[in-house]
Amino acid sequence: MKVAIVGATGAVGHELMKVLEKSTLEFSELQLYASPRSAGLKLPFKGQELTVQATPEGAIDADVILASAGGSISKALAPAWVAGGALVIDNSSAFRYDEGVPLVVPEVNGEAALAHKGIIANPNCTTAIAVVAVAPLHRKYGVKRMIVSTYQATSGAGQKGMEELLEQTHLQLHGKEATATVFAHPIPFNVIPHIDAFQDNGYTKEEMKVAWETRKILGDESLIISCTAVRIPTLRTHSEAITLELERPATPDEARELLRSAAGVEVRDDPAAKLYPMPLTASGKYDVEVGRIRASLVFDGGLELFVAGDQLLKGAALNAVQIAEYLQA
Ligand code: HSE
Repeated sequence: MKVAIVGATGAVGHELMKVLEKSTLEFSELQLYASPRSAGLKLPFKGQELTVQATPEGAIDADVILASAGGSISKALAPAWVAGGALVIDNSSAFRYDEGVPLVVPEVNGEAALAHKGIIANPNCTTAIAVVAVAPLHRKYGVKRMIVSTYQATSGAGQKGMEELLEQTHLQLHGKEATATVFAHPIPFNVIPHIDAFQDNGYTKEEMKVAWETRKILGDESLIISCTAVRIPTLRTHSEAITLELERPATPDEARELLRSAAGVEVRDDPAAKLYPMPLTASGKYDVEVGRIRASLVFDGGLELFVAGDQLLKGAALNAVQIAEYLQA
């Protein structure tokens, strides 16, 4: 099997290569593609140096294409890649809401990937991280309503987002003015309740993605979901506070026990020992940390929890590779 990464020089592309190095996926060749200005660049992979090529307009001679170059590139080029016989696992939102395009988190709805017609969508990072924790609870207790507040790292805006945090922090510490280019406002020493475009209903697109995508992944259009998505000055790993109203009551102990055996979850929940999910401990980890599990004061029999998941891993590169692994197994 031949694998290609489109967007190999970006933050997600970089993580895709690291995840592929450790993956159980069997492939004979890895091709790297990026914009023409990165063509010729050499990137290390399994002790070799692979040369980045300019992304072609037409078909790519690969069986699986991991696309992480952004929605406009996927929209324009993926049809030709599929026509050329490749399976495209796309990290953008270009096809996520299309009927017939599975939206997959392998631990939750891996079997949905089997019905693909050439494209499988990787979910929005915030959604992927949340559903790993929420899906087991939904299966056992039936989630009726879900309220999510996010604390999203600058990595969500890619390499340039992380660079803006570091550069602006340096400027501000030296008393200089920082001009925002990636984010709506300077990000150091700030929190910004604005990720992606505002919609007519007052929510941002990022917030609506959590609602649209959670329903599609869990296969439950009756779920009521509200989200406030906020950018914070961390480098990587998105954190989320989640409130759940349940059809059947769950105690925190029952939820902890269920989540301890759930794939992709690490229960980190011992407040007395100062153990709870945090970007500092979740960054670089494959599992999503889940903690602060407690009985909701809002919904009788409901739960409150806090999760932290590496946005570049479970929220992007890792999930994409796990989809390919699921299909090969
Ligand atoms: N839209 C996300 C963010 C990126 O800006 O954090 C992951 O899908």
